[in-house]
Amino acid sequence: MRLLSTLGALAAAAGVAPAFAADVTAKPVKQVAVIGAGAAGASTAYHLHRYAEEAGIAVNITIFERSSRVGGRTLTVNAHDNPLSPVELGASIFVRVNHILWNATDDFNLVRIDPGVDEKGLFGIWDGDSFVYTQDSESWGWWSLAKLFWKYGTAPYHVNNLVQQTVGTFLKLYEKPYFPFRSLTTRAFELDLVKVTGVTGTQFLAANKLDGPFAHDIVQAASRVNYMSNLAYIHGLGTMVSMAPEGAKSVLGGNWRIFTSMVESSKAYLNLNTTVVSIAQEEAKDTNEMISKYIIKTSNTSSAEAGKVVRQSVAFDDVVIATPWQFSDIKEEGDMIQHPIEPVPYAKLHVTLFSSPFRFSPQYFNLDPAAPVPNSVLTTLAGNDEAKPGSAGAGKAGFFSATQVKKVTNPKTSGEEYVYKIFSPEAVTSEFLSSLLGVKVPETFVRTSATDDGEDADFETIDPISWYHPAVFHPYPQKLPRVTFQDPILGRGLYYTSGIESFISTMETSALMGKNVARLIADDYLGISSTKEENVSAGLGHDREQVVLGGKQGVATDEL
Ligand SMILES: Cc1cc2nc3c(=O)[nH]c(=O)nc-3n(C[C@H](O)[C@H](O)[C@H](O)COP(=O)(O)OP(=O)(O)OC[C@H]3O[C@@H](n4cnc5c(N)ncnc54)[C@H](O)[C@@H]3O)c2cc1C
Ligand SMILES: *[C@@H]1O[C@H](CO)[C@@H](O)[C@H](O)[C@H]1NC(C)=O
Ligand SMILES: *[C@@H]1O[C@H](CO)[C@@H](O)[C@H](O)[C@H]1NC(C)=O
Ligand SMILES: *[C@@H]1O[C@H](CO)[C@@H](O)[C@H](O)[C@H]1NC(C)=O
Ligand SMILES: *[C@@H]1O[C@H](CO)[C@@H](O)[C@H](O)[C@H]1NC(C)=O
Ligand SMILES: *[C@@H]1O[C@H](CO)[C@@H](O)[C@H](O)[C@H]1NC(C)=O
Repeated sequence: MRLLSTLGALAAAAGVAPAFAADVTAKPVKQVAVIGAGAAGASTAYHLHRYAEEAGIAVNITIFERSSRVGGRTLTVNAHDNPLSPVELGASIFVRVNHILWNATDDFNLVRIDPGVDEKGLFGIWDGDSFVYTQDSESWGWWSLAKLFWKYGTAPYHVNNLVQQTVGTFLKLYEKPYFPFRSLTTRAFELDLVKVTGVTGTQFLAANKLDGPFAHDIVQAASRVNYMSNLAYIHGLGTMVSMAPEGAKSVLGGNWRIFTSMVESSKAYLNLNTTVVSIAQEEAKDTNEMISKYIIKTSNTSSAEAGKVVRQSVAFDDVVIATPWQFSDIKEEGDMIQHPIEPVPYAKLHVTLFSSPFRFSPQYFNLDPAAPVPNSVLTTLAGNDEAKPGSAGAGKAGFFSATQVKKVTNPKTSGEEYVYKIFSPEAVTSEFLSSLLGVKVPETFVRTSATDDGEDADFETIDPISWYHPAVFHPYPQKLPRVTFQDPILGRGLYYTSGIESFISTMETSALMGKNVARLIADDYLGISSTKEENVSAGLGHDREQVVLGGKQGVATDEL
């Protein structure tokens, strides 16, 4: 219902021709295609519309989206199919320093909520043998510094300072003279962030004398739940970002609302169920026309003739590819992409959501039957676990996290249940769920409630799992150390947003890259841009073709 009404609103917006500034009627309308309606594509359209309005440029934006909805990796599913119980299946949290998302929630009157359980409980970090850390948890604010002091001394304080400092440096990318940027590699170098991205989390923490138990227990639990990676296989920046979720928020009803609001506000033509299959450069008909335009072919995802390819009638001045190229299946016709997009190793994550009246079993965690059991569990490596990369990295615990995310009412039994979310490298099995919950799953669990006279026993069946929703994602790249990042400019009028994912992959950073590309396009129309990179720091970043540091694009700098 919620989704349908939103689609209705978007369709209405799409039917309205964009309002053009009156004084530019003589100039031709700039045609811009955005491929993908996730955080990056929605932000591109939103900001380009704003910049164009400010500058009186006539821009006509068309968005192509393969799926039937806006949001991409930001999406909810409804527990028990109840639209009143949406649960984040993809990107679930953002923080105060995520200025684009935070401001958008204000601008669109969206309500920010504290994600997480609606009740007090215990939160723990499990290493496959025992809990290395537990604390009371009232919300998603996993670790309160005060509570960490007694166990880890001043390390939490110092790590927190390092996080604040790194985030502060990163935030310079939002402002002049660092914004906009034609090369992320150049900016990472200018801001000295390559010192953080070029080493592993382990190395970065060690360089700051912070590689003790706090790193192993807490920081690694954070890098595992955020980026399914042990500290030895994630760069320092990814590590710092993992430790930043203090004060985490979600949007009431779903984070995707930020992006549907952005698309609506952009007045773009939104084509859902439309897969872009190829991009080609148009033959220049007019010899005076120096710059050729782009021709896009699409296929209709939902129709019976799904394979039928249609050539879009509009020729585009600019095309923004706002999705990881390697999963887009878009064909490049000719040699249009001057700066080839190198594939990046993406992790594969199983996300399992389910609802159950049961809590986690003390036995599963080697606890006394009467002991309190955490309702949210993050994990780290066991003492004798070898740190491994990617899917092999879960170690003895076998999963990255198992958290209680919501309390719901089962519509059939009217009983109270918990919605759990499990992040694991492999699909969860019924054996695993049976021992985690301490009940036989999936066979129906039968409970006998004895009656006074012992006769006529009242049989009541309780489903151990009443709603089940598994999903598999390529959620983010494996953040191996690196000092170069795919640039946002692929060629004249051709842009790419997903290069930022190897730097940091969050909704905010994708939105930032979308905003950056929007600024570059607007500046290009205004004649502001040149092919030269702005001269931010003396002698550096003068030319975006220049490879600032050694190290080949797409290749990690250490021996992984
Ligand atoms: C399980 C999970 C948990 C996460 N947790 C968080 C979190 O808590 N906080 C956070 O900030 N981030 C989180 N992330 C990361 C975050 O979701 C991503 O970094 C961000 O959403 C990426 O946005 P994007 O627009 O760049 O890409 P996407 O969201 O992937 O959008 C790309 C869009 O392009 C479309 N598309 C692809 N190919 C084509 C084509 N050929 N034609 C037309 N359309 C096409 C796709 O359908 C998609 O809608 C999480 C991700 C996952 C999966
Ligand atoms: C804007 O683009 C759409 C295609 O998405 C096209 O149908 C429409 O005619 C264009 N409008 C203008 C004014 O160029
Ligand atoms: C967010 O809003 C604040 C307050 O209006 C403003 O100062 C800031 O520049 C905005 N940031 C972004 C990224 O929009
Ligand atoms: C997209 O496809 C889905 C599934 O086929 C369908 O339910 C939906 O109505 C379609 N949406 C649009 C806008 O065409
Ligand atoms: C896809 O095809 C169906 C059936 O032919 C049509 O109703 C729908 O409008 C088309 N959608 C798009 C996005 O072209
Ligand atoms: C760039 O910086 C250098 C060193 O400060 C300076 O000599 C040069 O003039 C600058 N170039 C431009 C285009 O501003």
